[in-house]
Amino acid sequence: MIFDTHAHYNDEAFDEDRDELLKSLPENGIKLVVNVGANLSSTEESIALAEQYDFIYAAAGVHPSDSGELTEANFLLLESMASHKKVKAIGEIGLDYYWDEPDRAVQKEWFARQIALAKKCGLPIVVHSRDAAKDTLDILKAEKADEAGGIIHCFSYGTEMAREFLNLGFYLGIGGVLTFKNARKLKEVAAYAPLDRIVLETDCPYMAPVPNRGKRNSSLNLPYVAGELGRIKGVAEDEIQRATFENGRRLYRIL
Ligand code: NI
Repeated sequence: MIFDTHAHYNDEAFDEDRDELLKSLPENGIKLVVNVGANLSSTEESIALAEQYDFIYAAAGVHPSDSGELTEANFLLLESMASHKKVKAIGEIGLDYYWDEPDRAVQKEWFARQIALAKKCGLPIVVHSRDAAKDTLDILKAEKADEAGGIIHCFSYGTEMAREFLNLGFYLGIGGVLTFKNARKLKEVAAYAPLDRIVLETDCPYMAPVPNRGKRNSSLNLPYVAGELGRIKGVAEDEIQRATFENGRRLYRIL
């Protein structure tokens, strides 16, 4: 039983076979999926997928790279989308200093505003943080984001930062990168973090694990990630699947 806690099945990479692929997931052990919004239109698309499929839920949010599209008017729209019964988180939200656009001040403002929205809605957050560890942590603390909780998705920092985020009560999202030969830092984090604070994610269509690295990713590849996590932790793969499934349900409050 696998929970893909972070997918983008609305992506055009799935236009040709989306329904066929999604229909095949439950029979292949993928029992829950959260489709994550990255802007207003993909949030709408995520909700539409969640309405279509019982096992799919949605996260509503605007990614830092798209935060330039936010205004007071469409922020209200985001808030109304967040009240949909299948929306289980606000995300993905955060800071991206790798692309470094829009201005950091804009990214920070809308990150903070969306954390406040999550708290208002009683939802956890899905955090995207790239090359911005310290500012991410500072904003999470300043906004008391521990009251919302959530996932640091596609975790890309070292064990020192992992400890900081874990101390705030966050879960670490781990995906295909874990299987890459050169992913020494992430393998260390995976060994360090307690199993009850790790969730599996694809971030599909991106980040396919070995042996499918470079191809279109889907939840069907998650057993490779679970297997590698089990190898690192010295735990059987089905125990990894069971534990991460329960972690996802607990944090997204899907009962
Ligand atoms: Ni994503």
